[in-house]
Amino acid sequence: MRTETMLTIMLLLVSALALAGCVNAPPGGSGGSGGGAKKTSGPIKIGFSMDTLKEERWQRDKELVEAKARALGVEVLVQVANGDDALQIEQAENLLTQGVDVLMVAPHNGQVAASIVNAAKRQNVPIISYDRLIMSSDVDLYISHQVVKIGEMQAKYCLDRAPKGNYVIVGGSPTDNNALLLHQGQMNILQPAVDRGDIKIVADQYAKEWKASEALNITENALTQNNNNIVAVVASNDGTAGGAIQALEAQKLTGKVLISGQDADLAACQRIVQGQQSMTIYAPIKPLAETAVESAIKLARGESVQTTDTVNNGKKDVPSILLEPLVVDKENIVQTVIRDGYQKLEAVYQNVPREQWPKVAGNRGRGASGDMSERGRPILALPVWSLPDIAFATENSR
Ligand code: BGC
Repeated sequence: MRTETMLTIMLLLVSALALAGCVNAPPGGSGGSGGGAKKTSGPIKIGFSMDTLKEERWQRDKELVEAKARALGVEVLVQVANGDDALQIEQAENLLTQGVDVLMVAPHNGQVAASIVNAAKRQNVPIISYDRLIMSSDVDLYISHQVVKIGEMQAKYCLDRAPKGNYVIVGGSPTDNNALLLHQGQMNILQPAVDRGDIKIVADQYAKEWKASEALNITENALTQNNNNIVAVVASNDGTAGGAIQALEAQKLTGKVLISGQDADLAACQRIVQGQQSMTIYAPIKPLAETAVESAIKLARGESVQTTDTVNNGKKDVPSILLEPLVVDKENIVQTVIRDGYQKLEAVYQNVPREQWPKVAGNRGRGASGDMSERGRPILALPVWSLPDIAFATENSR
């Protein structure tokens, strides 16, 4: 009888543990695993150290991480450093002091943040590099999008439409590894065209701190030095695209020069439908944030996380999960960013006369806030809800 009771208790314990381990991990290749800490009982506490909330996307990251943590019944403590390295280190140390079981970091400076990894390791706390890679350190896991591919997409969009002429490249912050990866991707596409003598890169500079004002200066100088003879500005994100567009506006060149971006910020989406910005990259935040929280829980429990890639950070090949980005322009903005519920149709088109708004069918698409045509007929080739599934829409689909 006693043995039976014990067996029952053991069975219950095993199924409870199995249930607790039922956090979805992204499918795929090699396994990455935590730095040693194992939380086997009690509520999990995740620390999230963020560089900034300046760009609209980071506000989404914060909200979505908090929402996912709530949904999974774990606590998340968020700190935002407002671009200050010393403050980010202090805040991260503070999170460790508060006893977080796992630390996620979106670093301001990828090199400097190595000291955060070292501090976490000293306390046996596993650490996830979120969106931006922390360099030269023993990071457990890197979760981001395919950033080199984003750079390639930006450059290819421009080169397909302007195969000859003068190009300007506006990079992001040189202390952000993403800016370097984007540049690598951009050059993968542009260098062969330079070598063929088709295009000339007349300016190639990083905008410090991803500042729009820096992008404005870089573009303004390039325009002046080349008598406004520029066919494309490969801007690395929407913020810098906004700065470059101001420089173009001053020369009455709005809409005449190709210009890329990244993030699908509302302001950028508005500029796209108004013909001021050519494209942006939509790198969906929801799967990023949710995968990060799910992985954080696994690492806190000492479980392994399935990864799809590795990225070298100068010290090791960091096990990585790199999600798919998507090109967005005027032609597909409704089927992508709006259909996914990331931006609302009404907001994106608010500066466009209503009669020129695309007519999309109802609110039946996933998150779509579509506008029904007056006669109830969708003008898109296919109604929103019957569009084929797009890779990004399937969360964690890799
Ligand atoms: C992110 C971009 C963002 C930029 C500026 C990059 O690391 O990947 O989405 O626009 O930082 O915050």
